[in-house]
Amino acid sequence: MAVVMQKLKGKVAIVTGGASGIGEATVRLFAEHGARAVVIADIQDEKGRAVAESIPLQVCSYVHCDVSDENQVKGLVDWTVKKYGQLDIMFSNAGTVGNSGQKVLDLDLSEFDRVIRVNARGMAACVKHAARAMVEQGGRGSIICTGSVGASKGAAWRTDYTMSKHAVLGLVTSASRQLGKYGIRVNSISPSAVMTPLMSSAEAETSMKVLKMYGPLTSLKGITLTVKHLADAVLFLASDDSAFVNGHDLLVDGGLLHLPDPMSSL
Ligand SMILES: NC(=O)c1ccc[n+]([C@@H]2O[C@H](COP(=O)([O-])OP(=O)(O)OC[C@H]3O[C@@H](n4cnc5c(N)ncnc54)[C@H](O)[C@@H]3O)[C@@H](O)[C@H]2O)c1
Repeated sequence: MAVVMQKLKGKVAIVTGGASGIGEATVRLFAEHGARAVVIADIQDEKGRAVAESIPLQVCSYVHCDVSDENQVKGLVDWTVKKYGQLDIMFSNAGTVGNSGQKVLDLDLSEFDRVIRVNARGMAACVKHAARAMVEQGGRGSIICTGSVGASKGAAWRTDYTMSKHAVLGLVTSASRQLGKYGIRVNSISPSAVMTPLMSSAEAETSMKVLKMYGPLTSLKGITLTVKHLADAVLFLASDDSAFVNGHDLLVDGGLLHLPDPMSSL
């Protein structure tokens, strides 16, 4: 039997958006890698509890937290530190997309406000309160945010979503510069398209088109992006394997950015 080296032995982690998709895969991988506690923070209570209960040895717990509400984010971090005595890793991953195409000419600004509130403001609140807890415990820690390939490239649709992910990169580069002196590293992963409920929720037909287009356009052939590939990238940034990596945006896109925009024809 293969011996798995546990890269997070004894660590305490929070995963926002941990009830589903990339977050759920990361929760499972963190637990496999010996994390002492993984706190799933989400607004999908039933799913979040089910994920927590499905993981052996009661390593996981679920906390309802809408990341766009700063008080709830502070409550989540305070609860974690009180229950487990420390916070070593924050994977700030919760995110949402608009219900329509959100091209500039038809931009619905109330939908825009909702997307920015979760993806940019929520991300800032999570980084802020995780960092405060890490500083208070004497420093050290790893914070990882979920960006997107759209964060370093414009998009043919979802203007608000693309703007929110540019904001995530601004947060990561700024926070990494400010928090390095406390031994706190701040990095991000930027996935290309991967099939999760988020991808299938908005304009299902267009999402399917995007997924089909992305695949053949990567420079890697014979492999399709899965949530496990993304969880592996998060694990790298969370663990000491990346001890000297700070302020980095790790693209997990199969080399997509070096090719023409697959969405330009949408
Ligand atoms: N799926 C993709 O192709 C893709 C590509 C690039 C980036 N991303 C990013 O990956 C992250 C995870 O998305 P996913 O694809 O796993 O989708 P998902 O829908 O499976 O997971 C997103 C999770 O975030 C939670 N969430 C949404 N709003 C929240 C809020 N206000 N407070 C707390 N939790 C909230 C949802 O309930 C859900 O469990 C998002 O930030 C998304 O923008 C996804």
